[in-house]
Amino acid sequence: MRLPIVAGNWKLNGSRASASTLAREIAAQPVAGVEVIVCPVAVHLDAVARDLENSAVKLGAQNAAAQDSGAFTGEVAVPMLAESGCEYVIIGHSERRSLFGEDEKSCAERFAAVVRGGLIPIFCVGESLEQRESGNTMSVVQQQLQAVFDLSGASAFSNAVIAYEPVWAIGTGKTASPDQAQEVHQFIRGFVAGQDQANAQAVRILYGGSVNPGNAAELFAKADIDGGLIGGAALKSEDFLSVCNAASH
Ligand code: PGA
Repeated sequence: MRLPIVAGNWKLNGSRASASTLAREIAAQPVAGVEVIVCPVAVHLDAVARDLENSAVKLGAQNAAAQDSGAFTGEVAVPMLAESGCEYVIIGHSERRSLFGEDEKSCAERFAAVVRGGLIPIFCVGESLEQRESGNTMSVVQQQLQAVFDLSGASAFSNAVIAYEPVWAIGTGKTASPDQAQEVHQFIRGFVAGQDQANAQAVRILYGGSVNPGNAAELFAKADIDGGLIGGAALKSEDFLSVCNAASH
């Protein structure tokens, strides 16, 4: 049985004070049977780590450099994130890929840096609307995963999480239907199995894209959906906790 995960991606939102308030509200209401993660902006990590002390809620970052140190202005390295109390790092979010030019190679290198530093990547994959409409969903997702296998080998996902996030569903209010999501999750698990059968059964595959308290339970009920990566609905503790409860079992 895979323990579900619900991870809140806070993106570029909040002040230090509001991030702390949100973290404390989430920490104060433990949800059993689900791993709960929050991912604030990098400069709020230390503060939020203190707010989460003595709670089961884990801390994640939204990105990490491929390099551990050096002349890489503006980047944050994995050992620094570890020092701030992070256990997870989102890698390859579609906003990084489309708005900040992170290509498959860069995402794969960042993934490898997270693993090397002893943290757990949450590796995002997903197709655009045009790619879905032209029937290329599976090939796009496969190519994004393949870049990681090429660099890190067949057991790349032995200690990693995958998030399927169709780009057209992120922040749009349009969710993939549970059947549409399950189809891709099943494909992803099958593709991982082609590389490493044991990892495929264990790897947690999250769905992301306009998950909210109203649609979470139906999505999480699907066989290959092991929780969610939540954007907008992660910014209000009540909504986020309700999504966490929907994943709990
Ligand atoms: P959303 O974002 O829930 O606001 O659609 C999800 C994500 O980008 O991770």
